[in-house]
Amino acid sequence: MITLALSKGRIFEETLPLLRAAGIEVLEDPETSRKLILPTNQADLRVLVVRATDVPTYVQQGGADLGITGKDTLLEHGSDGLYQPLDLNIAKCRISVAVRSDFDYHAAVRKGSRLTVATKYLKISREFFASKGVHVDLIKLYGSMELAPLVGMADAIVDLVSTGNTLKANHLVEVEHIMDISSRLIVNQASLKLKQPALRTLIDAFSLSLGQDG
Ligand code: PRP
Repeated sequence: MITLALSKGRIFEETLPLLRAAGIEVLEDPETSRKLILPTNQADLRVLVVRATDVPTYVQQGGADLGITGKDTLLEHGSDGLYQPLDLNIAKCRISVAVRSDFDYHAAVRKGSRLTVATKYLKISREFFASKGVHVDLIKLYGSMELAPLVGMADAIVDLVSTGNTLKANHLVEVEHIMDISSRLIVNQASLKLKQPALRTLIDAFSLSLGQDG
């Protein structure tokens, strides 16, 4: 049995066409089913529905043989022991710094002010601001980061931006682009040895549908 860990939402939806190209159909919809283990049309392949931030943990611990996760999640979590054969180029977005439209970020940075930044990406934010020599106080949040500058809790946020609609709706502006993000295939290294033929076939099928070499 091969177990693939996926998170609900964009990653799941954008993975379906790749699976389909490999002849794989997931037989239940995680948006309507309460099941956490979903069967596929291949008797030896099942899908685990896990929180996005838990995908690397399931694969590292062997709860899943492979998974699909954002570069953002991998950077925050760390990728020890994970084989990363493919950038799937799905769920593409960016990580940016955003502030209230009336906050002069560049002046604050130039003056060497201490910035308070709300984010769920502590590691990425710490490294980014350290590389710029900007002093930051980080506030860890788990969602709705956009609120923090609006209620005076932070000067800036570091968050994912896709269309930019969430920022716009909350009167925030993007002032720095930290990095581009996409989702990657991650594989448990022990599984890769123990289940080599089946996993290779799957990785090659993903690779083929992307038009890259595995
Ligand atoms: C992400 C991110 C923003 C939003 C950006 O949230 O945190 O809130 O998407 O997308 P946009 O630029 O297209 O408006 P997501 O919906 O992934 O949920 P989250 O708050 O759990 O991260």
